[in-house]
Amino acid sequence: MSALQLLWVPVLLCLTHAWFCNGACVEVDSDTEAVLGQGFKLGCISCKMRGEVPASATVDWWFMAKGESEFTHIYSYADLTGYIMDDRFDERLAWNGSKKTEDVQDGSIYILNVTFNDTGTYRCFFDRTLVFPNYEYRTNATKFISINVVGKATRGMASILSEIMMYVSIIGLQLWLLVEMVYCYRKIAAAGEEALRESESKKSLKPKA
Ligand SMILES: *[C@@H]1O[C@H](CO)[C@@H](O)[C@H](O)[C@H]1NC(C)=O
Ligand SMILES: *[C@@H]1O[C@H](CO)[C@@H](O)[C@H](O)[C@H]1NC(C)=O
Ligand SMILES: *[C@@H]1O[C@H](CO)[C@@H](O)[C@H](O)[C@H]1NC(C)=O
Ligand SMILES: *[C@@H]1O[C@H](CO)[C@@H](O)[C@H](O)[C@H]1NC(C)=O
Repeated sequence: MSALQLLWVPVLLCLTHAWFCNGACVEVDSDTEAVLGQGFKLGCISCKMRGEVPASATVDWWFMAKGESEFTHIYSYADLTGYIMDDRFDERLAWNGSKKTEDVQDGSIYILNVTFNDTGTYRCFFDRTLVFPNYEYRTNATKFISINVVGKATRGMASILSEIMMYVSIIGLQLWLLVEMVYCYRKIAAAGEEALRESESKKSLKPKA
């Protein structure tokens, strides 16, 4: 491998495991299916356009329940502290984003004990100030996440089908192997008997000749 090719290895590793490489930020979409009674991570990542520029950010979460037509403010994160702003989420929201830094790029929160009432659209809002040597620049980012609450974790049809196919093919292959073994055994046994009979008859013929 040439030196140039070797250089690509860490780059590829970075692309596939971006979080291991310090500073790299990738905007991963949130899951959208929460399970009743369990916890659920509402993911919201907003990367700085210029990773090397120091910044500080606050994150706010809004929620519009299914059937409602307006967003209400449910959570606010600023200066390393989170505040729950809505009674419906009292003691049920926890910060799951960037830790120990005001330079927040991961603004995810965690819902404890999901209820069907948590179904709806969540809006995540980043308010970021980039600090350049001579001036500050303010940007913001908004993301919407639609959450569906289900009674039990569902599995995709494809995954169920592929599991069934796996068992079918394993059992099928073993049966086929068994049939083949029996068939071969019989053939060998028959050939053996044949050979035995042939040599017997040759022996019995010899003295006469
Ligand atoms: C998210 O928050 C929950 C509740 O505090 C905690 O159990 C979980 O470990 C956190 N996950 C991450 C990745 O921080
Ligand atoms: C979640 O629900 C269970 C059972 O209803 C309860 O025991 C537990 O205290 C709840 N946890 C929170 C954080 O509300
Ligand atoms: C869900 O909302 C309905 C109507 O607002 C309310 O009566 C019910 O108590 C709520 N359920 C939970 C688990 O919060
Ligand atoms: C978000 O940024 C845009 C332009 O960058 C600005 O027009 C808008 O007022 C900002 N929104 C908030 C809520 O600060």
